[in-house]
Amino acid sequence: MRYNSYPDSNIPVNVTLNVTVKCSCGNKDVSKDYGLFITYPMRPGENLSSIALATNTSSRLIQMYNPMVNFSAGSGLLYIPGRDKLGNYPPIPTRFIRKKEQKVGANIPASSGQSHSPGPGLSVIHVDKSVEFSYKELAESTSDFSMSNKIGEGGFGAVYYAELRGKKAAIKRMNRQGSAEFLAELRILTHVHHLNLVSLIGYCVERSLFLVYEFIENGNLSQHLRGKDVLPWSTRVQIAMDSARGLEYIHEHTVPLYIHRDVKSANILINKDFHAKIGDFGLAKLVQSGNPTLHSRFVGTFGYMPPEYGRSGVISPKVDVYAFGVVLYELISSKEAIVKEGGVDEPRSLVTLFDEAHSHSNQIEGISRLIDPKLGDNYPLNSVYKMAQLAKACTEKDPQMRPTMKSVVVALMALSSDTI
Ligand SMILES: Nc1ncnc2c1ncn2[C@@H]1O[C@H](COP(=O)(O)OP(=O)(O)OP(=O)(O)O)[C@@H](O)[C@H]1O
Ligand SMILES: [Mg+2]
Repeated sequence: MRYNSYPDSNIPVNVTLNVTVKCSCGNKDVSKDYGLFITYPMRPGENLSSIALATNTSSRLIQMYNPMVNFSAGSGLLYIPGRDKLGNYPPIPTRFIRKKEQKVGANIPASSGQSHSPGPGLSVIHVDKSVEFSYKELAESTSDFSMSNKIGEGGFGAVYYAELRGKKAAIKRMNRQGSAEFLAELRILTHVHHLNLVSLIGYCVERSLFLVYEFIENGNLSQHLRGKDVLPWSTRVQIAMDSARGLEYIHEHTVPLYIHRDVKSANILINKDFHAKIGDFGLAKLVQSGNPTLHSRFVGTFGYMPPEYGRSGVISPKVDVYAFGVVLYELISSKEAIVKEGGVDEPRSLVTLFDEAHSHSNQIEGISRLIDPKLGDNYPLNSVYKMAQLAKACTEKDPQMRPTMKSVVVALMALSSDTI
């Protein structure tokens, strides 16, 4: 259930049914007396007593349910027992307690875990999934981070396949230590769940910083576009839609809001049903809050960065819209964001290539030449053309001219009806 403000004040909060059972902080089972919880993002300048005052709760209760929180850090997510309009603490409905009991044995939350829609009256429940793992446990789950468990390597370190507590996971070994700020961010990130976002299950701060993600079975979009098997056009549209929904969610619905800053086909993971999930969201913020001097590494990936990036220093969600536009061009052409072809020619960006096609005297012909030849004739030209138009809008030089991710989702919905 999401409210925009806490009753009696204008504090932005999510209302949460906290069904934490064995939370890493050693909480006792959440009692039936305090069933409805508010997730409260702490802001700089706030402390335990000011939050108790603002939320009309006692400091003792807040401390009881947030034993790991450093209240002087000025950031982090708190759980606060929520009262109803009459000032009572509404109990957890029995059916949720039953659900909780089922999950006690499941140490890792279900990979599909996200906001559940329990039906009328109770719209969204966020299950607390934050888990802190020991190094020993992670090493055991990856055969000591063996080469055969390694899935890939990115800008922050290597990623390993793990079997952790009976479930598949992907562990990212970061080339850095975790700081207090990192942990505050991580606690928040473990609460962000959406069908089209790769869930952060937990973390480990022993020896190095490790991020534990749900495992996505089918690799990333970049591999699929460049692999042997052809992605049918309808699947490409589906992947575009899924990714757009994931981005729209972090731009518009999380607390706090996120800008991804590294949207690219390698960060779009594909599950066994060929649905897409955005990976690595929140990492940019994490890296910055952990070490501001490392900020410059995180300028995104060449070929996906908009013209304003770095120049103005102003980062808006429109940097993600631009990068998403590049991904749309990749879906059409299967080409990389930076195209090296024609032998002696300088590498050129995919955006430049498509810009030329859009300004071709015969636009349809210009774009047709860039369509992935592996598709053969198996695509509706109308749908491809519309996607190219959408990508053009997303990659406008002026960020203000680009649509929001919300509009992109709407445009893709219209487009997908042309696909069948
Ligand atoms: N949760 C996951 N499940 C399955 N595979 C994953 C998962 N997360 C990452 N991978 C795979 O691990 C590889 C490396 O990922 P990583 O995020 O470290 O690098 P990247 O995405 O190429 O670059 P960047 O550091 O800019 O994100 C990717 O190719 C991706 O396919
Ligand atoms: Mg990545």
